[in-house]
Amino acid sequence: MIRSSCRVSLTLRGNRTRSHDGSEPRTPNPELSFLRLKTCNTKIVQSAGEKVIPATLIPGDGIGPEIVDAVVMVLDSLGAPFAWEEHKAGMAGVEAHGDPLPQPTLDSIRRTRLALKGPLTTPVGGGYRSSNVRLREEFHLYANVRPARSLTPGGRYENIDLVLVRENTEGLYVGFEHYIPIGDDPHAVAIGSGVNTRVGCRRIVEFAFEYAIRNRRKKVTVVHKANILKALTGLFLETARDVGKVYESKMPMEERIVDACAMQLVLNPWQFDVIVTTNLFGDILSDEIAGLVGGLGMAPAANIGIDAAIFEAVHGSAPDIAGKGIANPLAVMLAAAMMLDHVARNDLADRMRKAIDLTLNEDKIRTGDLGGTASTKEFAQAVINRLNRAES
Ligand code: NAI
Ligand code: MG
Repeated sequence: MIRSSCRVSLTLRGNRTRSHDGSEPRTPNPELSFLRLKTCNTKIVQSAGEKVIPATLIPGDGIGPEIVDAVVMVLDSLGAPFAWEEHKAGMAGVEAHGDPLPQPTLDSIRRTRLALKGPLTTPVGGGYRSSNVRLREEFHLYANVRPARSLTPGGRYENIDLVLVRENTEGLYVGFEHYIPIGDDPHAVAIGSGVNTRVGCRRIVEFAFEYAIRNRRKKVTVVHKANILKALTGLFLETARDVGKVYESKMPMEERIVDACAMQLVLNPWQFDVIVTTNLFGDILSDEIAGLVGGLGMAPAANIGIDAAIFEAVHGSAPDIAGKGIANPLAVMLAAAMMLDHVARNDLADRMRKAIDLTLNEDKIRTGDLGGTASTKEFAQAVINRLNRAES
């Protein structure tokens, strides 16, 4: 029997109450505009007009718990409206429950339809299938939105402002793979198939155009490899061209072959604005784009779908620095800001982004990956100090 912990974070006219005592979560109804809750033995009174939003919190593996803790500290200080249900997945799920995606974790996301997730370790080669990929499939999280924006001047590139929209459930990541043994070599031949559907291609390209229009972007670049993978990414390009015609009067579209795009991103990244592409190419290009703005520590991601939305960093569990307290919590922090945008609390998201900007650029407090000396907690505390200063 898995016990989920209860982590409630609410703002009450400036006062914050938080409880974390391991009892079963009782999440409030988000539709109620004012309510009195008794949660985890803590009385919480919410002011009229404020919405409490149940959300699943997955600390994850490796550096995950350290950075997620730091981000929850900042969200608490901000007065974010989330009532957390904390659950395990990945290696932590295997260690605690023998399952990288335990049922209570899935049940919680099914209930809340909203999650903030730390990175999850996936064994390389053999072992269990990626919990991230499974989560994306389970909740039909078909759009992975990965913005990359320069936050600190003086890096390799200035003024980068790109958004990569990656198809998240199809392509070569469907896991249709097998080996053919020959003689005494069980791995003599490896075969992998990708699956793209017209419905899936249309859905992600339409998402990219709608996103571009809503966010007043300049153009959409469709990235493919239809010259070689003529069916798999040919269908993506064919469908994108159809969708592009529909949006012609509202948003320009252009095309790039993925390898040329990768080079052009290094030579002249400013020529791009919103990029939409298939699963594997999106995975690779989003790490490249993160590199343009200072590395993986700065790159957030939103997995948006039919049944839920899950917010996370682009980076993984970074086993090389796990437990040292030095990881950059910024990517998950920016993912939390996207989560606030998603629940229409742009006011809080903007305050958080502003505090991050001031911490990085005026206070010059940064973690080691950005050339600074701050620990994970020190950076989070510096953002909190900025939030508090803005309020006083
Ligand atoms: P990684 O992204 O964990 O690390 C790559 C490099 O970036 C490492 O040198 C690491 O120290 C550094 N790095 C990553 N995040 C950082 C942060 N916040 N602050 C400072 N430095 C940071 O990629 P890697 O090593 O290839 O993968 C490790 C594990 O993470 C694997 O099991 C992989 O499957 C998993 N993974 C999970 C993801 C997810 O949960 N969404 C995404 C990517 C990988
Ligand atoms: Mg990746």
